[in-house]
Amino acid sequence: MWSANVKTGSELSISSLSASQLASEFGTPAFIMDESDFRSRALTWNRALNNAFGANAGNVYYAAKAFICVEVARWINEIGIGIDVCTGGELAVALKGGIDPKKIEVHGNNKSVTEIDKAVAAGVGIIVIDSLYEIARVAEASTRHGIVQRVLLRLTPGIEAHTHESIATAHEDVKFGFSIASGAAWNAIQEVRKNSSLELRGFHAHIGSQILETESFGVSAERLIALLATYRDEYSEQLPELDLGGGYGIAYLPGDSELDPEIVMNGLATLVADQCIAYKLDIPKISIEPGRSIVGPTMFTLYEVGTTKDVKLENGLNRRYISVDGGMSDNLRPALYDAKYTAILANRASTATKISSRIVGKHCETGDIVIREIDLESDIAPGDLLATPATGAYGRSMATNYNHVPRPPVIAVKDGKARVILRRESEADLMGLDI
Ligand code: LLP
Repeated sequence: MWSANVKTGSELSISSLSASQLASEFGTPAFIMDESDFRSRALTWNRALNNAFGANAGNVYYAAKAFICVEVARWINEIGIGIDVCTGGELAVALKGGIDPKKIEVHGNNKSVTEIDKAVAAGVGIIVIDSLYEIARVAEASTRHGIVQRVLLRLTPGIEAHTHESIATAHEDVKFGFSIASGAAWNAIQEVRKNSSLELRGFHAHIGSQILETESFGVSAERLIALLATYRDEYSEQLPELDLGGGYGIAYLPGDSELDPEIVMNGLATLVADQCIAYKLDIPKISIEPGRSIVGPTMFTLYEVGTTKDVKLENGLNRRYISVDGGMSDNLRPALYDAKYTAILANRASTATKISSRIVGKHCETGDIVIREIDLESDIAPGDLLATPATGAYGRSMATNYNHVPRPPVIAVKDGKARVILRRESEADLMGLDI
C-alpha cells in the first residue's frame, strides 16, 4: 500500500522528508513518487521472471499506460527492462527516454497507420497485432521500410477474470485481439503467414487488470500453449514466444494483499513446463507486462484540505465532507471503477476521535469522490494535509483537465532528496492550445 520508504505515525515522511516540507516546497495536490521503490519493484519482477524461467525468460515489458514520463523512461532504460507502449505518444516518450527500440513492444487495438509507420521506422522489437486490418498495415509499413517486422498476435483466451468489468480483457465479448474459441485466431495466423515482411513470433494475451487470484493467468497460458501445439502440428515448426500480459493486483486498502512476483512467476513456470511436456513442445520464451504492480504502490497523492462540512443524513447521523484541492481530475478510478482508496492525516498526529467522513474533490460534480466512506480524525481542518497511498498506477496517467484544473506534478524522492520529474501544469498550459 505505502511505498518502501514511507513512514506513517506522527507525521508522514518519505525518505526522511516530511509531508509538510514536500507540500511547502512543491505545493498540493502532488504525486509523491518513491524512486528507489520503483526501481526495486521493476527489478523484482525482472528477477522473478528470470529465476522462474531461466534461459526461457523473455522480457519484462513495463506497461507504460500505468504511468510514464521521460524521466521514468530513463529509469526503465537504466534498469534494463523493456516497455509496452500502446500509442504513438507513449512510443515517443519511450524513445525520448533513450529506451532501446528493440526493447519496445507496441500494443493498441486501433494503431493508426502513422503510429505503425513510426514504430516500424524506429525499429521496435515487437508489434502485437490486434486486427486483420492491422496485419496488412504492418506488413505494408515493413515492406516500405525494407525490414521483416517481428509480430505477436493478441488473442482472447475466453477468460472471465475476477475484476471490474471495464478492466477485464480476455472474455469473448471484447474489442481486443482474436478469439481462440471462434477460430478468429487461426484465421489471423494464416493471414500473417501470407506476408513475407512479417515474422510471427508467437501469441499474446492480457486477461485484465488488478487480478488477485493466480489461476486465471494459468488458464490463459494453457490456452496459448494449446494453440502453439496446434500450430506445430499444422506447420511442423514451433513459434518461439508467448507474452502473458500484465494485470497483477496490488494492495489499496489496509489488510489487502498483493500478488508476490516470485510466487506468481514460479507457479506459471511450473504450469508452462508441464503443459509443454504434455504437448511435446519446447518451452517458449515467456514475457510479461506488469504496469500497476511496478508503479502503483510507489506513489501517494498529497492533498491539502480546503473546507469541511457536516451534513445531516436521513438516518439522523452526520457525515463530515472533507474537500481536498484535487479530486476526480487526478484520480478518476473511484468514479470510473468504484475503486476504493484509503487516506491518512499526513502533517501531524491527532488523538481526536474518528468520525464517518467522505473525502471529496473540488470539481463541480457530486460524483467527485476520492473516498466514499472513511473514519478520520474529527479535528481535521483547512490547511491539514491528507495522503492517499497506491495512486501510482492510472492516477496521473488518467488525469484530466476537467474544470480547467491543472494536472498535479510528480515529485520523485530518493535518498532524502526530492525533485520534480513532471511539473505541475500552469494556467498558460491550460490555454496553450487555444487559438
Ligand atoms: N498489457 C496490456 C496489453 C494491457 O492492456 C495492460 C493494461 C497491461 C499490460 C498492464 O496491466 P496492469 O499490470 O497495469 O494491470 N485504467 C485501469 C486499468 C486499465 C488497464 C489496461 N491495460 C485502472 O485504472 O484500473
